[in-house]
Amino acid sequence: MSSESDSASGNNDYGKAKLFVNDKLVSEFDVVSDSMGSEIAILGSSLRADGIKNIGSPLSFYDPGYSSVASCSSDITYVKGDGDKGLLFYRGFPIEDLADSCDFMGVSYLLFYGDLPEKASLEEFGDDIKQYMILDEQIADFLNGYRRDAHPITIMHGITAALSSLYIDIDANDFSKREQIFKRVLAKMPTIAAMAYKYNVGKPFVPPRTDLSYAANFLNMMFSSSLDESEPNPVFVKALDKIFSLHADHEQNASTSTVRMVGSTQANPFSCLASGIAALSGPIHGGANEACLSMLEEIGDVANIDKYIAKAKDKEDSFRLMGFGHRVYRNYDPRAKIMRSICHEVLEQHEDIDPIFELALKLEEIALNDEYFIERNLYPNIDFYSGITLRAMGIPTNMFTTIFALGRMPGWFSQWSEIYEKGSSKICRPRQIYTGNLQKNINL
Ligand code: SDX
Repeated sequence: MSSESDSASGNNDYGKAKLFVNDKLVSEFDVVSDSMGSEIAILGSSLRADGIKNIGSPLSFYDPGYSSVASCSSDITYVKGDGDKGLLFYRGFPIEDLADSCDFMGVSYLLFYGDLPEKASLEEFGDDIKQYMILDEQIADFLNGYRRDAHPITIMHGITAALSSLYIDIDANDFSKREQIFKRVLAKMPTIAAMAYKYNVGKPFVPPRTDLSYAANFLNMMFSSSLDESEPNPVFVKALDKIFSLHADHEQNASTSTVRMVGSTQANPFSCLASGIAALSGPIHGGANEACLSMLEEIGDVANIDKYIAKAKDKEDSFRLMGFGHRVYRNYDPRAKIMRSICHEVLEQHEDIDPIFELALKLEEIALNDEYFIERNLYPNIDFYSGITLRAMGIPTNMFTTIFALGRMPGWFSQWSEIYEKGSSKICRPRQIYTGNLQKNINL
């Protein structure tokens, strides 16, 4: 197991952090910065033991929601949300550059292997994946256990977990085994998602085609009714490929942290991914694109915007503006800007502009000029535009989070794989502040 300071190997020119409790020095911690020099971390694992040694009581750092806790060190994704501009890098490459010059297969390859592929490697990678896209019959039978109207993310969650019964003896310490499973994951997930949709609508499933790109294959499996030769709209294919890339990873968000938490127990990778899907399904995380569209439909008309802005500000009202705000970005989510232009491109495929897009633009304009949102740095996040874009592509609202999960698969898997790469075999086990009963005796 690597030592903590090795795994968080930024530069250490920040000296020490000293903790005093009641004027007594309890701990001296090493302080390191991240490789970008933009964030520093106190290496605090000795806190508990120092407390016992120096003040006779174990010490913990209490931070519900982990907003100030670094749970791991990672080389994969860099997100910077303070300052004047939101930054998102995959393996050092800015998302804006990747969105312009790389397809989702290239981004997936980059996240897992750590660098952009040569043309030949990318082609081989894509071909490898295509040969595993068919789902095992036994696993496909799981579908029939669901209600016809089961939410697609629920189906995806269940069938992904079921795959852990198929891929059993995985020596995760062996990179070639992780690589093999990575390709199986990317291959099977669009098939599962498309099957969930076809099961919902009661139409026959159409198998993947080897002559189509990743995004085109998914749209074809979703919308075509036979192995007909027609190809999905190329504008929609390009938009979906970019949507996948924009969602591919986002450092230690709730669902990725869940994958790592489950991964720390050395569970089967498909079980870890299923736990990530479960976490993502929540409406204030990956379910926000679906919730945002439902919110826009509920607002219905520009005339109602002020009423809903007031609701969002009312502490007595649980209503929040879906698609606004972010735990990390205290400025514009860089993905939202790219998503907005993709949205325009897709909407231009339609004769008349979708009124819900105009409503979204007006809502964005009003919110961005409202003191409440400005004071709290609440800007549109990626979900604000992704839902409108997917709707304009004819994708039903209940498929939005499933599509988010398809995009996030390479990120989740790469983060899970990094646990083994970095040799950090420590099981995740946070502490708590107990507020329950003092010891009680059972008086029989
Ligand atoms: C994703 O983490 C990631 O990286 C996630 C993600 C990824 O790629 O994995 O980026 C994907 O989950 C994007 C976020 C999608 N969720 C939504 O759009 C749902 C709406 N947003 C909120 O639920 C909220 O903004 C969160 C959950 C995204 C962030 O919540 P935080 O950081 O915990 O913020 P907070 O709850 O502490 O809010 C701070 C203040 C509070 O007001 P005060 O108590 O200070 O008066 O801002 C308010 C909140 O009430 N606030 C909102 C709001 N979001 C925060 N008020 C109205 N509408 C909102 N959307």
